Amino acid sequence: MRKNIVAGNWKMNLSYQEGLSLFSEVVNMVKDEIRGNQQIVICSPFIHLQSLVQLAGKGNKVSIGAQNCHQEEKGAFTGEISANQILSTGAKYVILGHSERRAYFAESNELLAKKVDAALSAGLQIIFCVGETREERESNQYKKVIKTQLEEGIFHLSSTNFSHVILAYEPVWAIGTGLTASPEQAQEVHAYIREILAEQFNQQVADDTSILYGGSCNPQNAATLFGQKDIDGGLIGGASLKSRDFVEIVKVLE
Ligand code: 13P
Repeated sequence: MRKNIVAGNWKMNLSYQEGLSLFSEVVNMVKDEIRGNQQIVICSPFIHLQSLVQLAGKGNKVSIGAQNCHQEEKGAFTGEISANQILSTGAKYVILGHSERRAYFAESNELLAKKVDAALSAGLQIIFCVGETREERESNQYKKVIKTQLEEGIFHLSSTNFSHVILAYEPVWAIGTGLTASPEQAQEVHAYIREILAEQFNQQVADDTSILYGGSCNPQNAATLFGQKDIDGGLIGGASLKSRDFVEIVKVLE
């Protein structure tokens, strides 16, 4: 059975100290809220990872993730971080394919496929993002775009390896804009993704894969979004930077 998940993506926000104090607040507020089939993940900048793992402690239901990794195992790549280095902090997750990485750092589907392999070989769980731009939605290309992102970025995996993948549908036009996909728009894409998972792998993989919605998700709209049949939680940007908002969103999880 797939998990219901709320993941926070802090992006390039918060000093080291601010990150630790936000995380402590979140952990204190959510610790009694999380039930068996639920998972909370915080994806922080690299500088916080190890300390957050320590603060979360063993057996805590809040897991830690990074927001990117390099595709090579190690070597002369100044300023980069490998999947193994992330794992060595105790973090368990990595976001790959975020639209900000695709747009500002020219990450292609081909490169992402290599990052996916690197993350899996290290033993990380992947939160893989897909989503269309405003133009692609308006020209009715969104399904094709999302299918290609999946086919070229992550569908080379076997069904066994795909069990380490969480998908996130993040329409680019809804990220940080205050514009949210309507529950119907989001559900349509989530159902479509599940359909292609069934074609690519099988119905079991489609049923077992958590698909999160991301894009201006907040305590006001989370309940209707997460209430859709194929939406298994959210990937939260701005609202994950405020403990109260983030925890309100967590409380919506079934
Ligand atoms: P916002 O919630 O700020 O729109 O960001 C969504 C996002 O990009 C999460 O990865």
